[in-house]
Amino acid sequence: MNTLVKMAITGLTLSLSLLTVQTHASQANTNSLGDAKLGEMKAPSCVFCHNPNGAPSQASYPNLNGQDPLYLFNAMNAYLNDERSGAMAALMKAQLQNLTEQDLRDVAAFYSSK
Ligand code: HEC
Repeated sequence: MNTLVKMAITGLTLSLSLLTVQTHASQANTNSLGDAKLGEMKAPSCVFCHNPNGAPSQASYPNLNGQDPLYLFNAMNAYLNDERSGAMAALMKAQLQNLTEQDLRDVAAFYSSK
């Protein structure tokens, strides 16, 4: 990504180039919902079932990688608010119980960026 960005801005001045690279770097880590880098640190236990990149560890588990961040955020809130039911939903609710709303935003941003 950075290489592409640098190639695209070859004709510009150095200061403008640096500004553009910085803008792209922050966009890669942050979206409208939260901070993907923080989200990665806030989701260490999730890797057992969702792998480090959000790909399911079992065929019956959902894919988190690349999903819309708002979709992931809403899905997690649905577990916490008992809007999803069943044994797996109860399991997920327990997983999310200790996360704050900001944590959920950051985690959603993280998996969405994968
Ligand atoms: C023990 C395995 C396990 C762990 C650990 C786990 N999950 Fe899940 N997760 C699941 C399963 C199974 C589902 C599907 C549950 C259902 O039937 O609704 C799920 C669903 C989800 C969904 C909804 C996906 C969708 O498309 O609807 C999100 C988001 C999610 N998990 C995030 C997390 C996060 C964040 C953590 C860590 C804090 C975590 N999970 C930890 C097994 C796990």
